[in-house]
Amino acid sequence: MRIELCELVLERPGGIRAVDGISYLFDSERCDAVAILGANGAGKSTLLESIPGLVPIRSGAIRVDGMNVEKRNLSVVRSKVGMIFQNSDDQLFSNTVGEDVAFGPRNLKLPADEVAKRVQEALASMEIAHLAERDVAHLSGGEKRRAALAGVLAMKPEAILLDEPTSMLDPRGCRELAERLAALPALKLIATHDLEFAGRLCPECLILLEGRIAAAGETGELLKQRELLLRCGLA
Ligand SMILES: Nc1ncnc2c1ncn2[C@@H]1O[C@H](COP(=O)(O)OP(=O)(O)OP(=O)(O)O)[C@@H](O)[C@H]1O
Ligand SMILES: [Mg+2]
Repeated sequence: MRIELCELVLERPGGIRAVDGISYLFDSERCDAVAILGANGAGKSTLLESIPGLVPIRSGAIRVDGMNVEKRNLSVVRSKVGMIFQNSDDQLFSNTVGEDVAFGPRNLKLPADEVAKRVQEALASMEIAHLAERDVAHLSGGEKRRAALAGVLAMKPEAILLDEPTSMLDPRGCRELAERLAALPALKLIATHDLEFAGRLCPECLILLEGRIAAAGETGELLKQRELLLRCGLA
């Protein structure tokens, strides 16, 4: 799986240029887990949200396995790329957790028994099988995050974009998520302020500063560069 950003410029409402000319190739054959780091407002969420076509492209292009992210390709792109939003309330909308996790696989038009199997597996893998009948609105923050993760895992996407996946998880949840993601055969792009999580899971890393790439390379190497980290709000 390859996700290619070509001179990408993205604007938010009000004309805020959140991504200001980024070119980069994510290639799962080179590295299947990439951390996207940067200070608050650096453009991480905007960048991730643009890949499944949730932020209009001001100029430049995004290609998912060679396919341009544009209106006519969105359903194919979204079947390949799953996203975990920074705020789980943006993600969960069904009445029960089980229904929410089933939504994605049903949308892929999978047969009912396959949908049921995937829901069961995804709930078990996030250790929330006991929450299947619960109302999503009445979960704790970390339970919501686990439900959102289960929903994306159930779709078995080729790429998963995770925006602050550990922000609501307890320490064991973080460790187990890292293990689960490491074992998952998918390209993972992970925006996070959790440098330990990034270092543990992601061999490659992209550091954003004011909508541009400040540095890219080996996570272990970049995280040693104190001056770079200070300049980018990471230390
Ligand atoms: N919905 C929105 N409407 C207008 N401006 C927005 C919106 N979302 C983000 N922005 C602006 O776009 C810029 C990039 O924001 P973004 O959310 O991508 O940053 P981030 O790196 O994800 O930050 P954080 O670490 O706080 O999550 C910021 O200047 C932000 O104020
Ligand atoms: Mg963000």
